[in-house]
Amino acid sequence: MKLSQFGEKFSGLTGIVELMDDLGGALNENPEMIFMGGGNPARIAEVESVFRSRLEAIIKDSNKLHSLMGIYQSPQGDKEFLTEVAALLRRQFGWRLTAKNIAISNGSQPAFFILYNMLAGSMSDGSQRSIHLPLAPEYIGYSDIGLSDSFFTATRPEIEMFNDDLFKYRVDFSKLAIQKETAALCVSRPTNPTGNVLTDSEVEQLDELAGRAKIPLIIDGAYGLPFPSILFNDARPHWNENTILVLSLSKLGLPGVRTGIVVANDEIVNAFSNANTVVSLANGNLGPSLVKELFKSGKILSLSNDRV
Ligand SMILES: Cc1ncc(COP(=O)(O)O)c(C=O)c1O
Repeated sequence: MKLSQFGEKFSGLTGIVELMDDLGGALNENPEMIFMGGGNPARIAEVESVFRSRLEAIIKDSNKLHSLMGIYQSPQGDKEFLTEVAALLRRQFGWRLTAKNIAISNGSQPAFFILYNMLAGSMSDGSQRSIHLPLAPEYIGYSDIGLSDSFFTATRPEIEMFNDDLFKYRVDFSKLAIQKETAALCVSRPTNPTGNVLTDSEVEQLDELAGRAKIPLIIDGAYGLPFPSILFNDARPHWNENTILVLSLSKLGLPGVRTGIVVANDEIVNAFSNANTVVSLANGNLGPSLVKELFKSGKILSLSNDRV
C-alpha cells in the first residue's frame, strides 16, 4: 500500500494507539477488573443512574427520540445545548459568553486535533508555528496530533520537593519564553498522567503571557473545571476571550458517548465548527441530549462536585 505523508504518520502505531488498544482489550476481556489507569473513568452507580433516567425520558418522548437519532445537528452543535452550556457558565462564573462561544465535537481528542492544526504547522507565508507546552510532562494524546513535524515545544518544569516522596511540578517562568513561532500555549489541568493541577496564579501568569503575545491559551479541562472537577483543591475555573477551554463529558462517566465542548471567542468557535464539519459532518447527538437538562438545572456541577 502506498501511503501519503499523512497516511504514513497517522496509520502507524503511536503511543496513544497502543494505550487505547490496551485499554479496550483489558476492559473487554476482563470487565470485572477495577480499572485504575489509562484514563477510563470509574463506574459510579449514582452517576450512571442519572444518565439512565435521562435516556429513559428521551426514549419515552418520540420527538426527543427523533431529535436524538433522526437529525443531523448544525455544525456548531445542538443550539439548545449550546445555549444551556453558555447560560450555566455565565451564571456560575460570570463569564461573558453566549451560545456563539460554544462548539461541540465528537470527544475532546478530535477537538484538539482540529484546534492545534488550525493554529500551528505550516503557515501560508511559508513559516512554521508550534504549540508550546509550558509544563511537561503532558498528555500523551497530544504528541502525534500535528500534521507537520516539530509541532510542539515545551518548557521543563520546576520540581518542588516537599519530602522524599512528595513533590509538585511548577511552571518555570524563568525559562518560559514565547517565541515568534509560538502559535498557542496549551496546558491540561489537571494533567494526565501526573495529576498536577496548575495553581490559579500560574494560570493567571500564563494568561497574561499569552495575552501579551496575542496567542491563545488552551486549557484542556477533560478532568478539570468546572466539570467533572476531578481535583482536590480550591483551584478556580478560568476563561476569557483569549482562552480556549476544552471540556469533555468523558470523565463524568460517558467516554463512549464522545462529546467534547469548546469554549472560545466566536471567531475561534466559527473556524473550529467549519473545520469540524469537514472532518465529522455533524456531532453525535447523544451526549448533548443526555446532559442538556443537567446543564439547565446546574446539576452537572453538583454531580461533579459531590459524586464524581
Ligand atoms: C488530558 C486529556 N485530555 C483529553 C482527553 C481526550 O478525551 P475525550 O476525547 O474522551 O474527550 C483525554 C483522554 O484520556 C485526556 O486524558
